[in-house]
Amino acid sequence: MSSAGSRLSVSNGVARRMLGKWIMWLALFAFLLELAFLVRFNRHIGPSFLSSLPSMSQYLSLSPSYLKQTSQEDGGLNDDKVATISSSRQRCINLMEQQDALNYSRDFSKQPVVVLFHETQGVDKCAVGCTFSPMVSHEVKPDAAFGIHEQPGVARVLRSMESAVYYGVNDVATAHRFAKITIIYILMGYNVVMTTSLSSDVPVGYFSWAEYDIMAPLEKKTEKSMAAAFISNCGANNFRLDALVELQNLGITVDSYGSCHRNVHRGSVNKIKALQGYKFSLAFENSIEEDYVTEKYWQSLVAGTVPVVIGAPNIQDFAPASNTVIHIKNMEEVKFAATEMKYLVSNETVYNETLRWKVVGPSDAFKALVDMSAVHSSCRLCIHLATKIRLQEEALLDLSKKRSCRCTENSESWFHLYVRERNRFEMESLYLRSNNLTMRALQEAIIETFNSKTHVPIWKSERPTVLKGDNSLKVYKVYPMGSTQHDALYTRQLDTDEDLKNMVENTPCLKLEVIFV
Ligand SMILES: *[C@@H]1O[C@H](CO)[C@@H](O)[C@H](O)[C@H]1NC(C)=O
Ligand SMILES: *[C@@H]1O[C@H](CO)[C@@H](O)[C@H](O)[C@H]1NC(C)=O
Ligand SMILES: *[C@@H]1O[C@H](CO)[C@@H](O)[C@H](O)[C@H]1NC(C)=O
Ligand SMILES: *[C@@H]1O[C@H](CO)[C@@H](O)[C@H](O)[C@H]1NC(C)=O
Repeated sequence: MSSAGSRLSVSNGVARRMLGKWIMWLALFAFLLELAFLVRFNRHIGPSFLSSLPSMSQYLSLSPSYLKQTSQEDGGLNDDKVATISSSRQRCINLMEQQDALNYSRDFSKQPVVVLFHETQGVDKCAVGCTFSPMVSHEVKPDAAFGIHEQPGVARVLRSMESAVYYGVNDVATAHRFAKITIIYILMGYNVVMTTSLSSDVPVGYFSWAEYDIMAPLEKKTEKSMAAAFISNCGANNFRLDALVELQNLGITVDSYGSCHRNVHRGSVNKIKALQGYKFSLAFENSIEEDYVTEKYWQSLVAGTVPVVIGAPNIQDFAPASNTVIHIKNMEEVKFAATEMKYLVSNETVYNETLRWKVVGPSDAFKALVDMSAVHSSCRLCIHLATKIRLQEEALLDLSKKRSCRCTENSESWFHLYVRERNRFEMESLYLRSNNLTMRALQEAIIETFNSKTHVPIWKSERPTVLKGDNSLKVYKVYPMGSTQHDALYTRQLDTDEDLKNMVENTPCLKLEVIFV
């Protein structure tokens, strides 16, 4: 930190609005303040700076006109007559680093997040101290527990991968309000909801690079029939079986392996191996629900067959590139799907194009989606809980500390922002100049900050080799910390310079998350 920073920000920001003697008192106060900083943080101040400090008497003889002037005329303050932007920037940064720092009471590496649960998978190598345990000693109070736990202060967690179409309590808004014990609903919601919905607190998808070899190479299309289907629950309450029959009526040849409308009897088959030989896979889900995308779809991608989907209304968000997935929204659309499939079968060039992502790689949007689950949901739960604990404490500390995360020097202002990579816990500081609050400046600041720490994206070890890329960082998205993944990935929040300006100016100490691709 720098004493000049504290003095000038106080004098510039406040003194100008004061009159006569008040200014003198203010200057004295500022001097004492800066003295206090020097005593506390002297390790940050070089000897050359100390020697350039004006004497006490110089301060007391300051005239109001001095305070209106810039430091260039302040002979006592700096020998270098040029107060460049970069030096005021540095002074501001040093100052904010000290003033905005909070001393949190809990060190998660010594007191990890404790979750009461019998399964302990996925919490090693977590970005925050994280313990899953079937029971805890009397001294340790868990931070969270799965299911309904009446102990006050213990967060109740719902984790389920079932569709809310069949399990109404899995609807995110409902689950936050009610819980269901066998058949009884109680008016006590879950604090943390983990479902397939990207709008849930900690989404648990069916997908991950580890689970599905999405970039597995293409195989020859050897089957006579155009499409394969594996449908076993014949009672699902949607139109998928009607659609299957209708496609067949329209001339689409389908090999049906599942127990519904079975026409293939080959004993037990490896589903992915079987799918590889077909041009299309009928990925018909039993529930039509946003973000509900199961192995039927992901296995089609692994097999390198074009998915024809009845399921999530937003399935195109899950497409590896544009024009790679055929979506049937209702019975009326079955005929369009049939026409499209026949066209693709008739023109191999166009068909091959729909699978080109297998060779050239999927879109950044797709990578950003699948990278989410490069970190196990148990670890993401701990990060979620630890972040909440930090934010609660921060709100308390700020009652007294009232940080502004802003610094003004020589009529230049800087904002102090915090940013962390998605699925990590600790935040990095970054500083933006008030007259350059642009997305470009933000992205450059992020890249610079993370490069200076030789940051390795958290998904690096998880992605298939062909998608790891080089060592450069590329920002895919920046969004306010606390956003759901749905909002982070698909809602326009922080897209324009105007968005950034509004957000930074209205949110002191703004916290952001970044997704690298
Ligand atoms: C931070 O807090 C700890 C205990 O909570 C205390 O020992 C330490 O002195 C504090 N540090 C600062 C810089 O306030
Ligand atoms: C296939 O489609 C491409 C692109 O639309 C077109 O250039 C080509 O002539 C078509 N080939 C056949 C055999 O119809
Ligand atoms: C389409 O791709 C297959 C291999 O996946 C290849 O054998 C075939 O020649 C390609 N067809 C055209 C028209 O490019
Ligand atoms: C704003 O920031 C960008 C990116 O860092 C930089 O290229 C540009 O020169 C800056 N503009 C001004 C007016 O400082």
